[in-house]
Amino acid sequence: MAASERRAAEARALVRALDGWTLLAATAAPAETRGGRLVLGRGALRRLTERIRGCREATAVFLDVERLDKPTQRELEAAWAVPVLDRFALVLHIFRRRARSREARLQVALAELPLLRSRLDSDAARAPGRGSGSRYILGSGESFTQMQRRLFREREMKIEKALERLRAKRRLLGGQRARRELPVVSVVGYTNCGKTTLVKALTGDADMQPRDQLFATLDVTAHAGALPCGLTVVYVDTVGFLSQLPHSLIAAFSATLEDVAQSDLIVHVRDVSHPESELQKATVLSTLRDLRLPAPLLASLLEVHNKADRVPGYTPREPHAVAVSALQGHGLPELKARLEDAVLKATGRRALTLRVQLEGQQLSWLHEEAAVQEVRVLPEAGAAEVTVVISGSAYGRFRKLFPE
Ligand code: GTP
Repeated sequence: MAASERRAAEARALVRALDGWTLLAATAAPAETRGGRLVLGRGALRRLTERIRGCREATAVFLDVERLDKPTQRELEAAWAVPVLDRFALVLHIFRRRARSREARLQVALAELPLLRSRLDSDAARAPGRGSGSRYILGSGESFTQMQRRLFREREMKIEKALERLRAKRRLLGGQRARRELPVVSVVGYTNCGKTTLVKALTGDADMQPRDQLFATLDVTAHAGALPCGLTVVYVDTVGFLSQLPHSLIAAFSATLEDVAQSDLIVHVRDVSHPESELQKATVLSTLRDLRLPAPLLASLLEVHNKADRVPGYTPREPHAVAVSALQGHGLPELKARLEDAVLKATGRRALTLRVQLEGQQLSWLHEEAAVQEVRVLPEAGAAEVTVVISGSAYGRFRKLFPE
């Protein structure tokens, strides 16, 4: 498939991602950008106009460009008599519909503000009389545009405050998680690569619902799962990435992705059956770089090649990658073993066998503070050999509490 065809396929998938929307027709047209404005060829514009006007069911047109300048958007809307959406507006629309939690909704609202503001600015530029307030002076002496701008600023501050409160709460929860010393594994990847399916497979969380749609997960959600050694880890399922995702949208969601920076390990899930798999990888890596993550975290990233069931005889080219089918459960034991190694290494944990007295608090303390894998009782000695996975700090406390 040529790059332009794949781009067209992604554009179609974006439209289909909107529940209740139907794709009536799709077409490519020559266009160029001149001085920041999109310019369609005269002939192309005429053909498109005839086609759109002739299609009675059409209620909107999606132009697959990152941002459409306002004057062009207005001209096209006037010519076609339907709303015209660019990539930013369409993705925002998808986000708006998917946002479930209060935080996701606030983030969408914040991302929406520049769009509303640029509309206001272009209104002011088109009708300067209105902007300067000569005709529409309000009681306060503010012009209509000034008042709108002030309202936007107030709204922005209000949303940011609410988001900050939610973030503080999340940091608190994160702190609690850290005190319980549960390692956190962030699962990232291009949209629809199978992150939710994989987390579901790793945790056995039956309530999770993977869906074949873009951006099914807009909120960061956490799910607990056990590694082979018995250690509980928290898997964090994150919002999917997309190429040419407008920068302000990334910025709006980078707060959600803050959790990634707090994690002990990043798992990068790739859909290796996708023709654009390499490009998707590059997009994910560059988005991760933008998040300014700690260097060791980025360096220890574990790459998982998902949907291997769709590529007969698949073997990863990257030596460190693990091929799996999250859907069919292939490759999961190997992945879990690799996750275990990486988590133990990243969190300074180790597996130890300790000899403890059966009388006293040692055994229950270990059950409480470490992941106990095996207990071998030695009846004559009144003791047991306990194999545990324990953090450096917990082991230090153990030695201090039970010096014998
Ligand atoms: P977003 O939330 O949109 O970013 O998606 P996601 O990355 O969480 O993907 P999700 O787990 O929702 O899966 C997307 C689609 O891919 C679903 O239809 C899954 O059934 C399908 N899928 C996931 N893993 C596999 C796999 O290993 N093999 C196959 N064949 N399909 C898979």
